[in-house]
Amino acid sequence: MRRRVVIPSALSAAVLLAAGSAFAAGMADAVTSRQAQFKTLGASFKALNDEIRKGDPDMKKIRASAAVVRKASLEIPKWFPRGSGAEAGVKTKVLPSVWSDTPGFAQAAKDFAAEAAKLQTLAAGDDADDLRAQAKTVAQTCGTCHTKYREK
Ligand code: HEC
Repeated sequence: MRRRVVIPSALSAAVLLAAGSAFAAGMADAVTSRQAQFKTLGASFKALNDEIRKGDPDMKKIRASAAVVRKASLEIPKWFPRGSGAEAGVKTKVLPSVWSDTPGFAQAAKDFAAEAAKLQTLAAGDDADDLRAQAKTVAQTCGTCHTKYREK
């Protein structure tokens, strides 16, 4: 009977290669799903802003949008696994500073989450002026993070 000779180093190289490409594919997915999540967040925040500008805003719509914004604000840190930057091989605007300045990025996400929580609380009431002011504050926290961690 002939014995098959397995060269261990070749085998492990193949295993590593397979694992590596699975990792890269996973990271490409992480980028595209992150972008889809941000699109949803952007659309909800826009819907909220459009509504509060109306003379007689629909509070139900505002509350629904504020809930989406709030939920996203809590999930953002999970959308940025290490490896989901330019090295993932798909188009992304994320800057490497997300991972080189993790405390700063975590703070930017936290600031956004805190303001999004206030927005949701105000949306439960019916003071459109307070809501308008808070929506501006929230927009500033989006902008702060984009300035530091997203390409122009
Ligand atoms: C903690 C950081 C952070 C916060 C807060 C944040 N963003 Fe972003 N946003 C990013 C980064 C980084 C990207 C780039 C993602 C990529 O290209 O992979 C992005 C991308 C986007 C995109 C583009 C998605 C696409 O690819 O089409 C939109 C729209 C967006 N953000 C809207 C918002 C809005 C609206 C808010 C606030 C309500 C917000 N973001 C808050 C970091 C943040």
